[in-house]
Parts: sequence; structure tokens; C-alpha cells
Amino acid sequence: MADLEAMADRKETGDRAEAGDRAVTGDRAEAGDRAVTGDRAATGDRDTGAGVGAAAAVPVLSVVVPCYNERQNVAPLVARLAVALSGHPWEVVFVDDDSPDGTAAEARRIAATDPRVRCLRRIGRRGLASAVIEGALSSSAPFIAVMDGDLQHDETRLADMLAVLAQDQADLVVGSRHVAGGDASGLGSGFRHLLSEQGIRLAQAVLPVPLSDPMSGFFMLRRDRFEALAPRLTAAGFKILLDLVLTAGRGLRVRELPMVFRERVAGQSKLDVLVLVQFAGLLLDKALGGVVPLRFVSFALVGGVGVAVHLATLFLARQAGFDFGVAQGLATLVAMLANFQLNNQITYRDQRLRGAALVRGLALFLLFCGVGAIANIGIARQLYQEHTAWNLAGAAGAVVGVVWNYAISATLVWRTR
Ligand code: GDD
Ligand code: MN
Repeated sequence: MADLEAMADRKETGDRAEAGDRAVTGDRAEAGDRAVTGDRAATGDRDTGAGVGAAAAVPVLSVVVPCYNERQNVAPLVARLAVALSGHPWEVVFVDDDSPDGTAAEARRIAATDPRVRCLRRIGRRGLASAVIEGALSSSAPFIAVMDGDLQHDETRLADMLAVLAQDQADLVVGSRHVAGGDASGLGSGFRHLLSEQGIRLAQAVLPVPLSDPMSGFFMLRRDRFEALAPRLTAAGFKILLDLVLTAGRGLRVRELPMVFRERVAGQSKLDVLVLVQFAGLLLDKALGGVVPLRFVSFALVGGVGVAVHLATLFLARQAGFDFGVAQGLATLVAMLANFQLNNQITYRDQRLRGAALVRGLALFLLFCGVGAIANIGIARQLYQEHTAWNLAGAAGAVVGVVWNYAISATLVWRTR
């Protein structure tokens, strides 16, 4: 019995890799039970041997993994982390935005037998950057790693990254595809390469520190630096690394390590063209010093597009021979639908409405904006009858409608829960 205890102790304190492998297969229930039932207190030698209580179990590194529809990748990632980080006490925090494929349930299934695995399930939200921030804030290890949950990032680099930070050679270590030894072949299509490269150019123009791969989603940093920056992060969109670096300014000591960006095997990429729009938003927000809320900027831009859509529809409807009032009504409806769609895709991307909520949101939007539309048509018609040019009359009506729509959107349609 005493021998068994001693063996178990050694497992707990030293041989984490092996324990990790067992954990993934669910073998750890026994060790877990002992901890919960308080058996550990009885084993004095662990307390003296490992320092303070279960010192070995206190993570030095929190690996934060944002995930959305990555169910198949969760178990393989945990297994790979266990191998790559053997010898370093670590934990992984999966931050899942309530994926329909059951990613969170899968993470919890593994967490049930492996205390190094945690899951943060966010409901009614989307967003890579905010997921990373909240996952990091939910943990306490002195070092934080951020990596994708789709196995595209090379976890074997983690130990080297940790060594750089632990030796205090840098505050932030970035896995880069663009330093010698790195490789971006996993990006796939030429279009993705182009998207990535243009983004990198744009970013390098404004970066306070040199970074060859500012779009990287694979990096590690000291917690104290992160905690200090967290309140000032924009937290919108995809580019959490850029957000951190732009917020920190010159104060951050950055080191890049080459990494190979692997091909995705399971699941799908969530990076699309709209991400570029959000990226521009992040740069704009930093340029404006965070004074003007990003949502307002987005609202204004969508509103501008809405006016253009309105005028174009009005023009076409007039060409088609519709009476001005009818044409203005039609243009209003089309502009309203376009505004709803654009705001749902861009302005409120992080709380995008889907399914029943989308129908409800659209119904509310149309209903309340109907009031705005009546005012819109009334004003435009009035002006038109007073011999204002058709386009000026139409635009004046549209502006009234758009302002009204904004108010409704913010308060009723995309109301945060
Ligand atoms: N919680 C959460 N919420 N996670 C998300 C969301 C979200 O809204 N969107 C994406 N993710 C997760 C994915 O599940 C994945 O684990 C990770 O974030 C990266 O998303 P991918 O969709 O796989 O991105 P990618 O492979 O196209 O982009 C990668 O390469 C880019 C460089 O071109 C990422 O590493 C990016 O960070 C990187 O900038
Ligand atoms: Mn990916």
C-alpha cells in the first residue's frame, strides 16, 4: 500500500507526460478520487517533497485555445500538449462560443478525468479575440500561450517558447511563419495567402515593434504583461496579437520563433473576407485612440452603404417607371434589409443573430423601422412636392430612416443579454 502511494505520488509530481496520456484515456479517475476525498493530506511525503501541497499540479503555463466547431480536434490536441509539455506543469483552457457541434461537451468529457483541462463556454457571443482574452483572464499561470484548436499550430514549439520567457529573454514570443525555418503552406488557397500577406503589409506599416508575422495566432506571453494590457485591448475580431502589440507600444520585448503552419485536417476555417473588414476596424480603433466606439464607426459606415443602396434602388425603380412614392418605399425596404444584413454580419458579428433569433430580430427591425420608414417617405415626398430634386429628397428621407434604425438596433434588435 505504501509503495502504491509512493508510486502515485511520483506520478503526480514528476511524470506528468505519462499521467497525461492516461488522463486522455480516462485512467485518471483513481488519482482524481483520492484528491477529492482528501486522501492526499494523509500522504505527508508529497507535501514535503513537492513543496506547497500539490505544487506540481499548479500550472506554470495556461494554454488558451479559442475554438468553434472543433469537437474532433479537442482530444488530439490535449494528447499532443501532454507530450509536448511533459515536464512542465500546464493547463489548457478551451474557450468555446457554444459551438453547435458540441465542442464544449467534448472538452468537459476530457476534463472529467483530467484536471489540466478546463472549458469556458460563452453563450450568445462570437469572437476569436475576446475568447482569447477571457480565457487568459480565467487562468492564473505566470505564462499564457495562445494557440488554435484545429491542430494547425505546432505545439512542439511551446517548450522553446516557454524557455525564452522563463529565462526572461522576452515578454512575448511569437510563432512566426516568416522567419527562417517557418512555413505557411498550411494556409491553403492562393486567396488565403493574399489575404494574409496584404494584412501583414498593412500591419507592419503601423507596428511599434518589428514583427514578421503580426497575424500569427500562436504566441506566448508573461501574465503580468497581459494583465496590464487587458483593460486597454480592443478585443474585436481576429487579431489578438496585433491588438496586444499595438496596445503595448514600444514597451514589449518581442522574440519570434519559426513555426510551421500545418494543414487543417478536421473542421473548417472561420477566416473570411469579413475578417479583413474587422481588421481594418481594429487599426482604425487604435488610430482613433479608442475614443470613438468601434460600433459607432461601423454603424456609420453601414449607414453610408445603406444610403447608397437606397439611392441606387430608387434610381432603378424610377427608371422602371414607378411612381416616386412607390419607388421611395421600395428603396427604403431594400435599404432596410441591406442594413440589417450588414449590421448582423459586421457591426454585430460577435452577437450575430441566427435561426429563430434572426427571424425575431429581423421582424423587430422591420416593425420598428417601419415607423422610421413612414417618416422617411413622408419627409421625402414633402420635399419632392416642394420641388426639391428627387435625389436630395430621397437622401433626406433615407438619413432620417437610418438614424432611427440605429437607435432601434442598439436598444432592441442586437440587445446584449
Ligand atoms: N471561441 C471562438 N470564437 N473561437 C473561434 C472563433 C470564434 O468566433 N472563430 C474562430 N475560432 C477558433 C477556431 O476554432 C480555431 O481554433 C481558431 O480560432 C482559428 O480559427 P481558424 O478558422 O482555424 O483560423 P485560420 O486557420 O483561418 O487562421 C489562422 O491563421 C491566421 C493567419 O493567417 C489563425 O491562427 C489566425 O489567428 C491567424 O491569424
Ligand atoms: Mn485554422
